[in-house]
Amino acid sequence: MRAGEPRGEPPLFAQDLFRWYDTHARPLPWRLRPSPYAIWVAEVLLQQTRVAQAVPYYRRFLRAFPTVRALARAPLSRVLKVWEGAGYYARARNLHRAARDVVRRWGGRLPSSVSDLETLPGIGEYMARAIASQAFEIPVLGLDANVLRVAARYYGERRDPARAPVRQGLKDRLEQDLPAVHPGRSAQAIMELGETVCLPRSPRCTVCPIAPHCWAYRELPDPGVLPRRHARASRRCVPMAVLVLENKGRVLVHQRPPEGLLGGLWEFPEIPVGAGGSPAAAARRAFRRWSPRSTGELRAVGTFRYGYTHFVCEITVFHATVGAQSEHPRGHRWVPRSDLGRLPMAGAARRAWDHVLGSRDDRAPAER
Ligand code: ADE
Repeated sequence: MRAGEPRGEPPLFAQDLFRWYDTHARPLPWRLRPSPYAIWVAEVLLQQTRVAQAVPYYRRFLRAFPTVRALARAPLSRVLKVWEGAGYYARARNLHRAARDVVRRWGGRLPSSVSDLETLPGIGEYMARAIASQAFEIPVLGLDANVLRVAARYYGERRDPARAPVRQGLKDRLEQDLPAVHPGRSAQAIMELGETVCLPRSPRCTVCPIAPHCWAYRELPDPGVLPRRHARASRRCVPMAVLVLENKGRVLVHQRPPEGLLGGLWEFPEIPVGAGGSPAAAARRAFRRWSPRSTGELRAVGTFRYGYTHFVCEITVFHATVGAQSEHPRGHRWVPRSDLGRLPMAGAARRAWDHVLGSRDDRAPAER
């Protein structure tokens, strides 16, 4: 897929791949109405989210912010609210900052070169290449896990593609073999094959358009053994108590600092459970400290697990009704219960609130 090379017939496997893509491509919204902005938003969502889950968030985001300028004009709190539920909120903060950069530096038009794209917050090498190829037909290829898997099987690469030289080798071969005529179509076709046919554990080789050219299909009893997988370190489990305190229809919440994990999102007070401690003891200590005179009962209303990239929280939710004069940590605020739906809330806090609602008998009909 080299720029400036003579444009002869694509190799056979690419012809078969394109023929298949033209009839089997899913009608994803960023394909039906493509624009550099639409492709960018889709790539950002698809970084950590499966296609089927990403589509509703994508639609909601584009409805709220149909252009780069509309996104740049919006306050961050609204962007986070629209992103709510999609997770990995740094993506939304970076999109927002990058939209403001695009307006300031490029008059609202996304730049087309990989090197300019890489200067924007949240756009790394993979995404710059994915956007450049799909939005501007620049002959480069973004290598995500799907593309690497297809390439490792197709070329019979038995080393671990997580290693940089192995990945670079696969990239060079693919960029050479995929035609320069339609870089965007090449990128989409190979991603589509990886997501719908060349699946991680059970590849659907019988319906694969490039199986006859594929090394793993021809040589291995189970092509699914490639690429070589390396063991993933298991994530740390962090116990945590969450306190939902209510007073006359108001709930105690706080906003996380703008930078860092879940920056800018709202949540209920969290109490880390120290080594050897129990969530109930940690919650009771905080409750006594903040509401020493409260006669309200502290009740455990549920436990759930919530995963982040590098650790998993095991969260026990406690609820109590307290007096307004109770003390609470700095930066916390009492907000009416009915406002909780309007605040951009962290996913774990939403789940905690669901546990509270599920445990009470005085729910309004709309909350049941
Ligand atoms: N995975 C990553 N990017 C994608 C895209 N643009 N379309 C479909 N799947 C993808």
